[in-house]
Amino acid sequence: MQRRRQAGYGTEYGTPYGTVAICLHWLIAALVLALIGTGFAMRRTEIDPALQFSLYQWHKSLGLTVLVLAALREIHWLVARHPEPVADLGPIERQASRTTHVVLAILCFLVPLSGWAVASTSTLAIPTLLFDVVLVPALPLERSAAGETFWSLVHAWSAYLLLALAALHAAAALHHHFIRRNAVLLRMLGRPAAGGSSGRARGGTRR
Ligand code: HEM
Ligand code: HEM
Repeated sequence: MQRRRQAGYGTEYGTPYGTVAICLHWLIAALVLALIGTGFAMRRTEIDPALQFSLYQWHKSLGLTVLVLAALREIHWLVARHPEPVADLGPIERQASRTTHVVLAILCFLVPLSGWAVASTSTLAIPTLLFDVVLVPALPLERSAAGETFWSLVHAWSAYLLLALAALHAAAALHHHFIRRNAVLLRMLGRPAAGGSSGRARGGTRR
């Protein structure tokens, strides 16, 4: 029944994203934006060292949470069926949207994993305490200044690429909502789509 609802069969709302997909999407999006903010702030040299240390620990804890949530999202995509793109999207738009979603999903792994690699290669060897409770083991990488520099670059570039792509993706969603007036954004908000047809899905697909 749940699968049928998520695939859009029998939903009177034309809102094919299920609660799990919607919650994971917005939770990950909010955490990623907060992490870019803390990541940027904690790198400032002029801030109080105690605050900086605390920001680092929060950053690492929330970043690892994104990694877990991203894995849950992939598992959910494997077990649940998902909607086709809304009806009034052309083939190029469908391809662009699918590619953007796949790249965003990959970055939700690459960014936290590269951050974990920075913490694991850092010669300072500062322990990562998940929410001040659980000691997170280092990845099996050699600690060295060169390794830390390399992973810092990968982490920063991938994080800012994620920010740029998320901004583009959000702009596209707002364009669909306010200009094209279709159900693209509404169905990710779990809201009924006016008219229903453009938000209705008929089959299952992967991203
Ligand atoms: C989606 C998750 C994450 C995002 C969006 C993110 C974002 C960022 C950003 C924007 C910076 C500043 C980069 C710069 O301007 O140099 C940063 C730095 C950093 N992040 Fe993350 N991060 C994430 C996850 C993680 C995780 C899971 C860890 C560790 C377990 C981590 C550890 C670090 C460290 C150690 C730095 C400082 C790097 C340096 O000193 O060059 N991050 N992060
Ligand atoms: C870092 C932030 C974000 C990431 C990583 C992200 C990622 C994704 C991914 C992977 C999907 C495919 C469905 C899924 O797997 O959940 C998706 C769909 C979607 N996202 Fe985002 N997103 C972000 C932020 C936003 C924002 C800020 C908005 C709106 C202002 C937005 C609106 C949407 C909409 C409307 C869909 C459904 C598109 C469709 O059905 O064709 N996203 N997003």
